Amino acid sequence: MKAVVVYESHWGNTAAVAHAVAEGIGPGAQALSTAQASAAVVSAADLIVAGAPVLGFSLPTDSMLKGLTANPGGHPTPPDLSHPSMRTWLDALPRGIAGSTGRPTARSAAFETRISWSPGGATTTIERELDSAGYRPIAKAARFIVSGKYGPLRAGELERARLWGAELAQLMR
Ligand SMILES: Cc1cc2nc3c(=O)[nH]c(=O)nc-3n(C[C@H](O)[C@H](O)[C@H](O)COP(=O)(O)O)c2cc1C
Repeated sequence: MKAVVVYESHWGNTAAVAHAVAEGIGPGAQALSTAQASAAVVSAADLIVAGAPVLGFSLPTDSMLKGLTANPGGHPTPPDLSHPSMRTWLDALPRGIAGSTGRPTARSAAFETRISWSPGGATTTIERELDSAGYRPIAKAARFIVSGKYGPLRAGELERARLWGAELAQLMR
C-alpha cells in the first residue's frame, strides 16, 4: 500500500506529526510538504492523509499567511512559508476518479494540530475538499494538541500519531 502524508506546517508541529503518522502507516508511506507532494505522487498513492495547523480558528487562509509574511519577526521563531497552503494544494489536487476502468480510487484521512480549547478547526475543510475530489475518508479526522500557541506538541502526541497511522494502515487492508 502506497501512502502519502501531506502537510502544511509553519513552526514544525504538523510536520512532526505527519512524519510520525507516516512511520505508523509503514514502509510504503512518505511524509511530504505541500510543495513536495506533486500530482504524480498523489496519483500513485492508495491513501492520502492531509494535515494542517488550525490558525485563526480554521484551516489557514492565504490572507492569514500573507499576514505572517508581513510580520515574520512578530513570532518567537520566523514561520516557514516556503510551501503552499493546504488550501492551495487542495485546489490543485488531481481528481481521484475511477472512470471506466472501475479501478478503486485512493482513500483519504485528515488531521490537524491545535491548542486544546480553541473553537473551530481545519479538518472539516480538508475532508470536504478531499471527498469532493473523489478521495473518500476511511477514518474520523484526528486532532493533535500543542501545549502553547507555537508548540511544542504535548507529551505523547507523536506516539498517538504513530498509532493513528497504524490504524489507518489496518483500515486499508
Ligand atoms: C498566529 C497563530 C494563530 C493560531 N490560531 C489558533 C487557533 O485559532 N486555534 C487553535 O487551536 N490553535 C491556534 N494556533 C496554534 C497552532 O494551531 C499550533 O501551534 C500548530 O501546531 C502550529 O502548527 P505548525 O507548527 O505545524 O505550523 C495558532 C498559532 C499561531 C501562531
